[in-house]
Amino acid sequence: MPGALDRDVQREVVRLHLNGDDVETLVPVHKTLLEVLREDLGLTGTKHGCELGECGTCTVLVDGRPMLSCLLLPLQVEGRAVTTIEGLAEGPVDHPLQAAFTELAAAQCGYCTPGMLLAAKSLLDDNPKPSRVEIQEALAGNLCRCTGYLKIVEAVELAAGRMA
Ligand code: FES
Ligand code: FES
Repeated sequence: MPGALDRDVQREVVRLHLNGDDVETLVPVHKTLLEVLREDLGLTGTKHGCELGECGTCTVLVDGRPMLSCLLLPLQVEGRAVTTIEGLAEGPVDHPLQAAFTELAAAQCGYCTPGMLLAAKSLLDDNPKPSRVEIQEALAGNLCRCTGYLKIVEAVELAAGRMA
């Protein structure tokens, strides 16, 4: 049963085109997109990191562009196409980036992986044959404390080669 404080929270209706589906939800106005995705919509693949715009682990795609969901309010993306890691695979089939990350062990603890994959997808959608430097630049906002980045870059190269 909601307490007095919960009843007093101001809420708003937000409509998103989320992972290919139209979604309408009532959310507290103070919540970030990251919090709404995880806590209200159950999409916990988007990871909660610094909440300061510094680590990239909360990356989602908005109209195909990587954006930091910890710095967005849901109303800022009203009516726009939002893709989370849950929307990357096509049904049961992994996206080639996911397959390459698995094959090359580019995910260790995996905490950075959803953001890395989405940033890499945006890159390959724009530039199907990126150079190594272009891959490094595209992923520069996504921090990884485990891999040393080389396997991640190699996995993006492998996926790009297969998708070309
Ligand atoms: S949690 Fe958003 S950038 Fe770190
Ligand atoms: S795999 Fe652990 S932070 Fe990147």
